[in-house]
Amino acid sequence: MKHFILCALTAVSVLIPAIQVSGQDYIVSSGNLSLAVSAPEGGRLEFLYFGPAAGPEDIDMLRESGALYGKSAYPEFGVDNVTGVKALAVKHRDGNLTTDLVVEDVLQDSKPEYDLLKVRLKDRYYDFHVSVFYKGWKNSDVIETWTEFENLEKKPVTLIRFDSGCLYMRRGDVWVSHFSGNWADEARLTEEPLNPGMLVIKNMDGSRNAHFSHAEIMFSLDGKPQENHGRTIGAALCWSGNYELRVSTHDNVNHLFTAGISPDMSQYTIDSGKRFTTPPLALSYSDEGLGGVSRNFHRWARNGMIHNGWGTRDILLNSWEGVYFNVTEPGMKQMMEDIASMGGELFVMDDGWFGEKYPRNNDRTSLGDWKADPAKLPDGLESLTDAASENGIKFGIWVEPESVSRISELFEKHPDWALQVKNRDLIFGRGGTQLLLDLCNPEVRDYAFNVIDTLLVRYPGIAYIKWDANVSLWNYGSTWLPDDRQSHIYIDYHRGLESLIKRIREAHPDVVIQSCGGGGGRANYGVMPGYDEFWVSDNTDALQRIFIQWGTSYFYPSNAMAQHVSADRNHQTGRVLPLKFRFDVAMTGRLGMEIQPSDMSAADRKFAAEAISGYKEIRSLVQTGNLYRLVSPYEGKGVCSLSYIDDSRDNAVLFAYKLEHFRNQTVPMFRMCGLDPEKVYRFRELTVPDGESPSSLDGKAISGRILMETGIAIPLETEYASRVYVLTAE
Ligand code: DGJ
Repeated sequence: MKHFILCALTAVSVLIPAIQVSGQDYIVSSGNLSLAVSAPEGGRLEFLYFGPAAGPEDIDMLRESGALYGKSAYPEFGVDNVTGVKALAVKHRDGNLTTDLVVEDVLQDSKPEYDLLKVRLKDRYYDFHVSVFYKGWKNSDVIETWTEFENLEKKPVTLIRFDSGCLYMRRGDVWVSHFSGNWADEARLTEEPLNPGMLVIKNMDGSRNAHFSHAEIMFSLDGKPQENHGRTIGAALCWSGNYELRVSTHDNVNHLFTAGISPDMSQYTIDSGKRFTTPPLALSYSDEGLGGVSRNFHRWARNGMIHNGWGTRDILLNSWEGVYFNVTEPGMKQMMEDIASMGGELFVMDDGWFGEKYPRNNDRTSLGDWKADPAKLPDGLESLTDAASENGIKFGIWVEPESVSRISELFEKHPDWALQVKNRDLIFGRGGTQLLLDLCNPEVRDYAFNVIDTLLVRYPGIAYIKWDANVSLWNYGSTWLPDDRQSHIYIDYHRGLESLIKRIREAHPDVVIQSCGGGGGRANYGVMPGYDEFWVSDNTDALQRIFIQWGTSYFYPSNAMAQHVSADRNHQTGRVLPLKFRFDVAMTGRLGMEIQPSDMSAADRKFAAEAISGYKEIRSLVQTGNLYRLVSPYEGKGVCSLSYIDDSRDNAVLFAYKLEHFRNQTVPMFRMCGLDPEKVYRFRELTVPDGESPSSLDGKAISGRILMETGIAIPLETEYASRVYVLTAE
């Protein structure tokens, strides 16, 4: 058996044809992981292995062990085994619905950052080519896979199903962790064993894809998911549109996982001579349980899948829950003064600032008319950016560039720019008037680019954009796409969005941009390379946020997660929670406030200023450190805890919360993870309110060994008690 290992640290940047040998295995490595396929020329591409770093001898031994069972690495609907689950189905020029792929050649590329393997397959009869890519990042434990189709037939071919990639897992006690939810209840965790049949995780919103389900999944190979041990695989589809993740358990040997753009209502025509590339599917593995896979994804994200991934973010006040649409110049200036006085660094003016002919006083009008409302802001945006700099803070602004209101100057001028269906009434979204613009149309993309570009060029004081998206893709029709390409809308919309974001990033690399999808609807790795952060949820209730943030952290790093402290009677749930609890929960990500400071008491403002100053001490640890989730809120223990630890394992910050309060309830010992057992850590408590004493742990020195083996008793005596400790190795 001859093997080719892609691991050389060479600077070769052209694709080099590999020696082609019958029965050939290829191993792509990434950090501590490997993925292996067999790609004999003229034969089938077969999946061999995905897991901890493996060499050629390991793959040979896998064969000896009986673990390999000759499964297609990219199963096509074709001439053999037509009953199984398929990653690819194509209609050829003559109506033939089958495809029969064999390996044409194998190309490899090695760069300092990654190794790339491209296996080019060809239909035995038709001039239709499929390239399956595997990319192993050297600085992250993630391997990406995707597929490219090339139509060299004389006429168009139609893609019916076109997954990004797939993976086999041996059957056993395999569990999945995945996320469902709703607006204001995003990332709700479900853990379940895989049973015979098909698990399908699917999203058809068309515009935002993370409210009701999430394009990410984890597989625990050793039974019920565990945070810090057990072999675990994670997968994230890097796509902002509709998707399908499928786990098929239809034989007694393996589970087959496939993931890609949802093919529903999305048959895609490739013209002769053209190509189509799927979005990447990112795969990771760890034997440190769910937490290990999360840390792998966080590192990979910071290394390029979120903008400025290793950067820390400013502490901000957002105007939305403070004033909603009641934006006024004095009101905005007052809020800027208030957040500056509490130590904040950025003020974001949310919805309600724009519209001249149709002022934006509610959600029924004005989207598209991105000029400051002269009645609300008589001195224009410049007077606000000036006020921000006078207060020593930065200024940010809300826009929703993909949408238009029926009542707007933009819609009067360009009604054809909205997605709309021939011979059907328009279906309106938010406010009963909101429509999605047709980003398939390059003219509309230019318009959307100009919305943001003009703001940033005309007002250089704008340092931050909150890019919102509050409507689903309901009108499935484009005036721009030809009649026979209407089934491209779901896909071309997101290709258009990707190119728009890329263009904005090229023009404005330094502006901070938040991805917001009416809350957490736009948390996905399709768009995140262009954004610095995303709004985790419109639900700012700290208790429910513990659950939402817990689930979101499975795949997303904390500097990407916008978490805000809001009013003491929460606007979404009506719950009243202590200000300390609200801060301690928001401080585990990118801290902000979403409140009217003038409604806060002097004591609360003082506490907020102290908490913000405390957060500045731990900001880089929280935002760029390694996350160890300790006690899950889903375990029903009435408490929750998580921590961040730096690479040196000298510094950590520990958060603990009381979620339920009963007399004499049993509170578990909190066992930490990821520390150095040989080091001794000194505890210092943060966010202690005036007039209260720090808890008994404050000032104590405890070894990493005890902290991880026995754990500590964290005093959480009262309802909604919470604690934040800084741990420093002595
Ligand atoms: C939905 C967002 O999630 C909110 O934070 C806020 O920006 C509103 N839109 C404004 O309309």
